[in-house]
Amino acid sequence: MDTNVIYPMPRIGDQAPDFEALTTTGKLRFSEYAKGSWTILFSHPADFTPVCTTEMSGFAKEKAFFNERGAKLIGLSIDSIHAHVAWVQNVREKTGVLFEFPIIADLDMSVAKKYGMLQPGESETAAVRAVFFIDPNFKIRLMMYYPLNVGRNMEEIKRALIALQTVDQHKCALPLDWKPGDKAIVPPPKTLEELDARLNSDYEMVDFYLARKSLNLN
Ligand code: BEZ
Repeated sequence: MDTNVIYPMPRIGDQAPDFEALTTTGKLRFSEYAKGSWTILFSHPADFTPVCTTEMSGFAKEKAFFNERGAKLIGLSIDSIHAHVAWVQNVREKTGVLFEFPIIADLDMSVAKKYGMLQPGESETAAVRAVFFIDPNFKIRLMMYYPLNVGRNMEEIKRALIALQTVDQHKCALPLDWKPGDKAIVPPPKTLEELDARLNSDYEMVDFYLARKSLNLN
């Protein structure tokens, strides 16, 4: 096995690679699907496998959360559209959970390769468990990659989306383990005037460069 094959890796801050694909909701162009909203693109290794079934069900069950946050979901695996449709139907029959979001059939691996989801040291034929958070300007803002044998954490996926939307709304940074309701970090002052303003502020301050403020989150 040649694990040294190099596929381009997307980076935080890059424009999201665009593509056209067959999905369980029909053919789509990704940039059209994602246009103007937050989009979460996630891959799973294979249809009809147990960990993947738990993960995809997790995304489906959080439909209301992602809707409220204005985020669209889209899945992907290196499987055929027929396998996807059969799996979606099987999970609906067995568990009552319906995967309503589109799932990309990436049989030629072209999308997986563009998004660094094919990592040959892990598998040459299956996508790793990736999650891409793409903002309304179609820019990649956060990426997660998990191996085949470890499922992702839905609470962290939700927290990451809230965190990204929070830093955009409040122009702040967020510290270790931040969760909604916690204080945010105020960016350090860049002028003496800003420093003086900070020293006279009601921020919670460890020192002038480490200050926290409350955000009135809804
Ligand atoms: C799973 O989803 O259960 C799985 C898929 C590929 C490799 C290992 C586990």
